[in-house]
Amino acid sequence: MHKLVLAGAALACGPLAAQTAPAKEHNAAYYAFRNTVDQKIPPDPSLPHFQLSHSYPARNPGTCKECTWLQLNVDFTVQFPPQVSPSRWHDGHWDEYLNRILQYVKQGQDPNLKNDVGFRTTVDGKTRWFNVPWMAYDPTAGREFIHGTTNERTAHLSNLINGRNRPVRGVNFLPLMSQGCEAEWPHGFETWAVGFYNEWGGYAVGKAFPATGEPHITSYQGSRMPDGLPFPEGTVVVKVLTTNAPVSCVSYLKNSPEWQIHRHAVDPKTKDYLCRREVQISRVVQVDVAVVDPRSPTRWVYGTFGYDADLPGDTFWDHLLPLGVQWGSDPWTFPAVPQQNGLPPQQTVLNPQINIFEHFGCERRLAGPVDNPQSSCMSCHGSAYAAPGGAVSTMGLNVPPSFGFDGMCVQYSLDNAAYFQNQQPPQHFPGGRFPDAYSLDTSLQLEVAFTQYGYFHTQHAPEACKDPNQF
Ligand code: HEC
Repeated sequence: MHKLVLAGAALACGPLAAQTAPAKEHNAAYYAFRNTVDQKIPPDPSLPHFQLSHSYPARNPGTCKECTWLQLNVDFTVQFPPQVSPSRWHDGHWDEYLNRILQYVKQGQDPNLKNDVGFRTTVDGKTRWFNVPWMAYDPTAGREFIHGTTNERTAHLSNLINGRNRPVRGVNFLPLMSQGCEAEWPHGFETWAVGFYNEWGGYAVGKAFPATGEPHITSYQGSRMPDGLPFPEGTVVVKVLTTNAPVSCVSYLKNSPEWQIHRHAVDPKTKDYLCRREVQISRVVQVDVAVVDPRSPTRWVYGTFGYDADLPGDTFWDHLLPLGVQWGSDPWTFPAVPQQNGLPPQQTVLNPQINIFEHFGCERRLAGPVDNPQSSCMSCHGSAYAAPGGAVSTMGLNVPPSFGFDGMCVQYSLDNAAYFQNQQPPQHFPGGRFPDAYSLDTSLQLEVAFTQYGYFHTQHAPEACKDPNQF
């Protein structure tokens, strides 16, 4: 997924750089745990500054009393033939399941998730939320200094128009966009997002990446895997996603929190995104969650909320519309099996009361408004693996292709059968193509961390920024 860009990087790290920045600052720990990739920070005292939360708990915090959704009686079984009831969302308590996760996530947060407060990592005087290291390494997409967001891959409009099958996250033409906006924004909108792991997740992240900043690999059930994984019961992950789509293009974003994001400047003529970053306004559009639930066949449940201006209520949280949950990739559903043998999906439950968002991906598996409709939460996340030995992880080469491959969701194929499959650590990615890759237990942020560590380990310095419209 990343091409090597050597010339620029080599120049920037020549003797001059060595003189101004003492070499000792450039060890793994320095890069792993720094707050931001931004070198030039505007001297504006009114801007918030993101602080990486990385004092990871040293011990597994034990039973999670706050995880009340784990006590709900929800059904993870599949039936042959399927009996998918249209009232499963409510009668099966999935609405309540997501609601309880949201109540936990919003504890101690600002009612309007205001720009100057952002997402708080401390709740009731205790650090509840932790960040993944190594995400402030890559100058193209790495953490900006205000809210710690990183840039998701963006697609060219031409990719979409030509029907080229390159599913990405942050495709960035939002559902129900008003007319004319596509012409005005030929490169689409950028998604910048920031994720947080609670104490259980933070404990695992800290074992995988201890204070040295180097990954710690160990053995789990006879397979090599990062220490701390699989994530323990009690783990909750939340991710806040922003878009630069203006309200004039997407009216359901009216009054959603406006965050200052130090993101790619836009060329006023071509509307190209540039490597240069500027402080600009983005709006919170989506909140994703993921929890470990040992009853699930993948041990995970993924869920998503879309911001909806039309919902009643005074706070930001009141305007989050639950779109659905997913706990597996439905390996009995097309394209994991041929169309004529495919069953309706059973491992996704969508909120039936929604007509404003497109909220499903491949064959009505769950995906969010900023997601590519040919993928789904669990399928993309099920491909989270890392190359061993500190090598650079290259999707499709030594780790699975998370963002897509030819024919994704189009026809039955071995690639689709592998991508829309369920597995648990320490199992390898299905299909046998990547026998050496370590399972990352669905964490794609850990995959980013391993990839960036791989660049550090092999090239010793970050790559120069690449064209943000293409990467
Ligand atoms: C096509 C790929 C893709 C799809 C589909 C996708 N994600 Fe992700 N997701 C990513 C990547 C890449 C990251 C890591 C980078 C980041 O956080 O910016 C990520 C990060 C996350 C995280 C932070 C923890 C982690 O695993 O890294 C959560 C939680 C999450 N996604 C939830 C969801 C939910 C819920 C959905 C479906 C509504 C979803 N994702 C769909 C690619 C995807």
